[in-house]
This record gives sequence, C-alpha cells and structure tokens, in this order.
Amino acid sequence: MAITSFPWVQELCRHKPVICPSLLAADFANLQREIRLVEEAGARVLHVDVMDGHFVPNISIGVPVVASIRKITRLPLDVHLMISDPARYAEPFIEAGADSLLFHIEAVPEPEELIGRIRALGAAPGLVLNPKTPAEAVLPYAPLADILLTMSVQPGFGGQKFMPGVLEKVRKFKQVARSDTLLSIDGGIGKWTINEAARAGADMFVAGTSVFDAVNYAERIRLLRRLAAER
Ligand code: DX5
Ligand code: ZN
Repeated sequence: MAITSFPWVQELCRHKPVICPSLLAADFANLQREIRLVEEAGARVLHVDVMDGHFVPNISIGVPVVASIRKITRLPLDVHLMISDPARYAEPFIEAGADSLLFHIEAVPEPEELIGRIRALGAAPGLVLNPKTPAEAVLPYAPLADILLTMSVQPGFGGQKFMPGVLEKVRKFKQVARSDTLLSIDGGIGKWTINEAARAGADMFVAGTSVFDAVNYAERIRLLRRLAAER
C-alpha cells in the first residue's frame, strides 16, 4: 500500500531547506515567549527533545510539557523520543499533540509495528540513529518513515560538536528515501556545519544552540537557511 504523507510534512517538503529550532536550547522559564519569537522569526516546525535519563544520561521534558506547548502554538511539533521504551509512550505523546514521533532504532531494532501504530494514531513516524549505528540498521525501514533523523552528536545534550563522519549515512538515505521523506540531522548544526550537511542530502536541520544563542532569531534562521541552500 502506498504511503500518503501528512499535509504538514508535504508543506515542509515544499519549503526545503527546513530549519527546525530545538526547544532544548530555549529559556524554559519563558517557553511561550521563546516560541512566539521563533514563530515570528519564520520557523515552520518546532523540535521537542524528550529524554528519560535511561536511554540517554539526561532528563528533559515529558508529556505534560508537550501538551502545554500544543496549546500555545499551531506549528507542527517534531517530537524526538530519546527514551528506552517509545512504544509505551507513543499514544500519550500523540494525544498531547505531537505531530511527528521520532524514535531510536537502538531502542526498537524491529520498528515496523511501532511505525504503523504511530501513523494509525495520526502522527508522522520518524526513525533516528545514533552516530555509531550503521545506516544498514535503518535502511530496510527507510521507505516506511516520514522522517529519517541522523544524529550528528551523541544524543542527550545540546551544544556539542558536530560529527562530520555521520554524513556518509545521510548520503545513503538520500539514495533510498521516498521523495516526500524529510532527511533530518540533529546535533551541532550551525553556520559552520550546515552547508556540508546540506551537500550530503539533509534537508531538515535541527538547531538548538545556534538558533537560541543568537541575539536575533530571525536573522540567524535566515542565515542558516541561506547557507543550507548554497549547494
Ligand atoms: C540532543 C538533541 C538535540 C539538541 C541539539 O540530544 O537531540 O535536538 O537540542 O542541540 P544543538 O543544536 O545545540 O547541538
Ligand atoms: Zn533532538
């Protein structure tokens, strides 16, 4: 059966390259203000990092925060689950308002069932792989996913250094992915790294520190987008 992607995913596909601000680097005490600012700065999607202190050595936010964010923005929420048991939490996160649900292949090595369930629950399924995980772990399932997210740092923390070695995997995904699959990259993306990621075939760029450290978010997003578009 052919997979029809969600209208918001199609919309992002029409506006590549997509800069996806990661709220992990936002001021959590002023989340509403930060979200308003990146909306006004032209963001078309928001990345939300969920960590359980088990799959990764850090704890961030959970279902109630996603539900609160849902109430204050209409932007799609790209929810990145860095948790050991994503199958258990898929439904609550989607009910809370996640538009995509990205989970790690290391947590679910046979992801078909969960991909199907996420889609049936009304969210876009995405597969993520860590820097050390080979592309081959994901390739058989690549056509089933709406988003393929290549980690370019060890997951768990913002502000780390980009690992260029992962770009070989992005090149492989580019060859097999459906034309309406977003090839996302996450970790260390900024003005010095975004262009090489784009040249490898990435078209969605999760950016935490490089957006929220800027004095002017709109200028920074524009700059990143321009650098990603230069091939
Ligand atoms: C890291 C998270 C990232 C993080 C990226 O585990 O998945 O989304 O926010 O942060 P930067 O852009 O600062 O590397
Ligand atoms: Zn992330």
